[in-house]
Amino acid sequence: MPAEVRSEYPGAVPLRYLERAAGRLLRAAGLAEAELSVLLVADAAMAELNGRWLGRPWTTNVISFAQGEGGAPGAGLLGDVVLCVDAARREAEAGGVGLHRRLLELLVHGVVHLLGEDHEAGAAEARRMEARERALMDRLDKEGIMADLCINVDHVATVREARLAAEPDPVQAAVLVELAGADGVVVHLREDRRHIKDRDVRVLRQILKTRLTLEMAATDEMIAIASEIRPDIVTLVPEKRRELTTEGGLDVAAHEGHIREAVARLHDAGVPVSLFVDPEAAQVEAAGRTGADCVEIHTGRYAEARGAEARDREFEAVVAAARAARDLGLRVHAGHGLDYRNTARMASVSEIEEFSIGHAVVARAVLVGMERAVREMLALVKGC
Ligand code: PXP
Repeated sequence: MPAEVRSEYPGAVPLRYLERAAGRLLRAAGLAEAELSVLLVADAAMAELNGRWLGRPWTTNVISFAQGEGGAPGAGLLGDVVLCVDAARREAEAGGVGLHRRLLELLVHGVVHLLGEDHEAGAAEARRMEARERALMDRLDKEGIMADLCINVDHVATVREARLAAEPDPVQAAVLVELAGADGVVVHLREDRRHIKDRDVRVLRQILKTRLTLEMAATDEMIAIASEIRPDIVTLVPEKRRELTTEGGLDVAAHEGHIREAVARLHDAGVPVSLFVDPEAAQVEAAGRTGADCVEIHTGRYAEARGAEARDREFEAVVAAARAARDLGLRVHAGHGLDYRNTARMASVSEIEEFSIGHAVVARAVLVGMERAVREMLALVKGC
């Protein structure tokens, strides 16, 4: 884990947020391979650490300890940052910002110290350090910290089609998804139209206030529909007639030419493209060569893994694929099989910008209502 965030603070802290922030910060600083340790403490513990290590026996907002001598390392342990939650809370209140924001600013400050900057060395050094902090904050603000959550409403249409009726309407479900605070809606228009229909995609395109992701196969028919409807993004998936749901990732490595052409045709229509791939290096590398904007990493093997060892192995495979994709300049989404038990761990992976979750949310919505089901999943993804 490049960024490890631990809390010794006797109260709730935004751990997930800081974990993702630390990962993104390392990447923004060009140190994606480096390791960073972050510890959250209260006033008393900060005063003790500040006194023991720096001869200043009082509390402060942040202290950092660089690892190793000389310039910033490219890999290995960069150092430790200790954040005082009490001090951050006081400063947040005084500055009229939220606690998350102040902790982020302090984390950036601590990491910039680890990179060798020192505002106490003189006025010019202070200016340079501030400029570096501002540049990193701007970059983090632009990219965002937490992952987006997009909800797949296919299975609302599955229930509708069980009776070949008009209800439940996936369009109405999508409105509730948006009202609950999700970042977007996903539908899969299958060749056999077994659940989502063309009308659903068209109406969603017109009424959604957030984003519409259209999952589809890379066929002429689907490319024509997507080029006309122009969703916010298309996710190309493999499609087999008899499968219950999308069973595996696209074999981009085996069909690179065909997929490259599909990506180019969608780009011509102004539609960004994501490729749904298994967490395998060869698939991610092939995706990088097709001109796609994004990969959605298949989390099905992680979700289905039985036992801690297998789960850890599959988790690491997703993390490795996400890093490889980011290194190739691809945006990273993830999805399939994620539920209320296995999503929180995935949500700590700072490279993943968006989750696409369907079955678990619709299944819970049947029992507790769509808004509550979405809000509960949002809490797991956003960590608050
Ligand atoms: N991503 C893709 C590409 C999918 O095909 C699906 C299933 O439709 C999902 C995510 C969502 O998977 P689940 O329904 O298991 O959450």
